[in-house]
Amino acid sequence: MIILGIESSCDETSAAVVADGKRLLSNVVHSQVDIHAEYGGVVPEVAARSHIEVINPIIKKALRDANVTWDDIDAIAVAYAPGLIGSLLVGVLAARTLAELHNKPLYPVHHVEGHIYANFIVEQADALAPGSLPSKQPTFPMLALAVSGLHSQLVLFKNHGDYELLGETLDDAVGEAFDKVARMLGLPYPGGPAITKTAQHGNPTAYTLPKAKLKSPYEFSFSGLKTAVLRAIQREVGVDHTFPSHELPGRLNDVQRADFAASFQYTAVKTLVDATVKAVDEFSPASVVIAGGVAANSELRRQLSERLPLPIEYAPISLCTDNGAMIAALGYYHAQVVPPTPVDEVTVRPSISMSDTLWNKS
Ligand code: KG4
Ligand code: ZN
Repeated sequence: MIILGIESSCDETSAAVVADGKRLLSNVVHSQVDIHAEYGGVVPEVAARSHIEVINPIIKKALRDANVTWDDIDAIAVAYAPGLIGSLLVGVLAARTLAELHNKPLYPVHHVEGHIYANFIVEQADALAPGSLPSKQPTFPMLALAVSGLHSQLVLFKNHGDYELLGETLDDAVGEAFDKVARMLGLPYPGGPAITKTAQHGNPTAYTLPKAKLKSPYEFSFSGLKTAVLRAIQREVGVDHTFPSHELPGRLNDVQRADFAASFQYTAVKTLVDATVKAVDEFSPASVVIAGGVAANSELRRQLSERLPLPIEYAPISLCTDNGAMIAALGYYHAQVVPPTPVDEVTVRPSISMSDTLWNKS
């Protein structure tokens, strides 16, 4: 079954073709990072306009790269939730129009579920540039750590479409914390890659930062960590909380900046890894996967590989950040479990949680 996947929930416009939920035939991603970088974050209206401009050429290129025509496409999958409403609308309207025009079944799928299903892509067409795909698909029960700019969640999958949310963040997502701390340090948007790069030269134990104490071991809170970094920077440069925060980066030298980046990254990642290791102890999953933009983080991969009692494989970075391939892969597994949604019933759901999606039995 060959599926076209369409993704436009935030600041990447992407379309991809995946066969049988595991073989990557194409993955075309148009990133708007350059457009938003000058504002220090995503501007929703600008994002929606950019999606409109590029979505059709991106879809055409995805079909061309995969060497398929509309006759070869068995179904369309689209990210309908969660995300920016204007951005989601562009992808959903494109998918609805194409499903109607070419008479294809349509599967609306959840973006965060999609991130997790990127881990099911284990083969690729010979024509694609070589990537480091996992050697085999994850097996159930599967523990997933989903960490992006909007989400930090631990999810236990009993099977496809049958999972339980063990815990999530009570405030900021971990990616959001990376982005905000990067801003405090004068590093560019998106903050994750910039912090990782700067942290390479820093000492992760230079500053002791607190780990939030919460009722459940599977819940997260990153807002306190972010504030702790701010207070530590203020202390380090000798100003109080009344000092304008946009002037703080100018007071830091390169060593301090690198040490803050390394200390923040170490603590944020350790928080995620502690919770994941605890969940592995309690639920004994057959496999563990990580997903979402923050899954690209090398320190997260290092700490997990070191501390997990079972082997773990990682999706390539290009399948961790937002992409259409994960949506196409997930669409395949939806198609095995639930019927397609009638085209005129497919709408956007900007804030629906993963556990409320159409196919989840638990
Ligand atoms: O999944 P994603 O591309 O978009 C959302 O669904 O949010 O995730 C974007 C987030 C941003 O907060 C970005 O700073 C973070 O992922 N990110 C990283 C890295 N690459 C991207 N965070 C830490 N380390 C990275 N290498
Ligand atoms: Zn995402």
